[in-house]
Amino acid sequence: MDRGFLFGDGIYEVIPTHSGKPVGLQAHLARLANGLAEINIANPYDNKQWEEIIVTLVERNRTAQTGPYIGIYLHVSRGTVMSRQHAYPQDIPPTVFAYGFALASPPQPDVDKVSPLSVALEQDLRWERCHIKSTSLLGNVMHFEQGRMQGKQETILLNANDEVTEASSCNVFVVKDDIIYTPPLDNQLLPGITRMLVIESLSREGMKVKQEVVSKALLLAADEVWLTSSSKEITPVISIADQRVGNGKAGPVWAHAIAIFNRHKF
Ligand code: PDD
Repeated sequence: MDRGFLFGDGIYEVIPTHSGKPVGLQAHLARLANGLAEINIANPYDNKQWEEIIVTLVERNRTAQTGPYIGIYLHVSRGTVMSRQHAYPQDIPPTVFAYGFALASPPQPDVDKVSPLSVALEQDLRWERCHIKSTSLLGNVMHFEQGRMQGKQETILLNANDEVTEASSCNVFVVKDDIIYTPPLDNQLLPGITRMLVIESLSREGMKVKQEVVSKALLLAADEVWLTSSSKEITPVISIADQRVGNGKAGPVWAHAIAIFNRHKF
């Protein structure tokens, strides 16, 4: 009778760790705290306690099979109820569920070795609170599946004005004439931690990312398109809805960006 199970009434995080070091830890914990506050669940732990949980999970999950890259899944649901009702009790203890899992090796700055993605392009039919990292992911799952049915590895989403919001589980970056764009933060997309770290690390090396509306036309005319997430870091896209992106290979700006990101991501 957990409301996470009954209603998807909860908030989650996915935090990557490399050789025990979390990437963007404080930002992930801040986003978790913000999400919980937004849906009126008391944060069950302070940052130090969350960090202890993460350290323990990394230690328990690191084996020869997993290698150095461990993802940490944190999930806080509103808690367990006596009866299924939409109205929630105000003061039940939240349920915390967490585990560690092996992450794929992150991409290295080598255009010939990276595994690029082919993606679908679909209308974003999710809700208007996509900035909340809610455990209710059916909308995202259905969009991911739309892509998979077309033999693609992700689905980039467009709002009703034909502007890019994000992908079903990633943020989107576009490069056109050496200018890097990503959609601005609002209720249409998740404030990705990788997105933030990419913007920050590039700016530390003098490369600016324009946080501007990305139209469908700009997306389809782009020289390069990248998807970012905690598990994919920065992964290049080489085709969108069967249309080639740029020259159909991972691009030089991507290689430069991932090298910079790797220098600054911790
Ligand atoms: N997905 N947008 C959506 C809808 C996402 O689900 C995610 C992350 C992102 C990227 O956010 P971040 O850089 O903070 O990981 C953007 C996670 C990894 C998942 O659900 O597995």
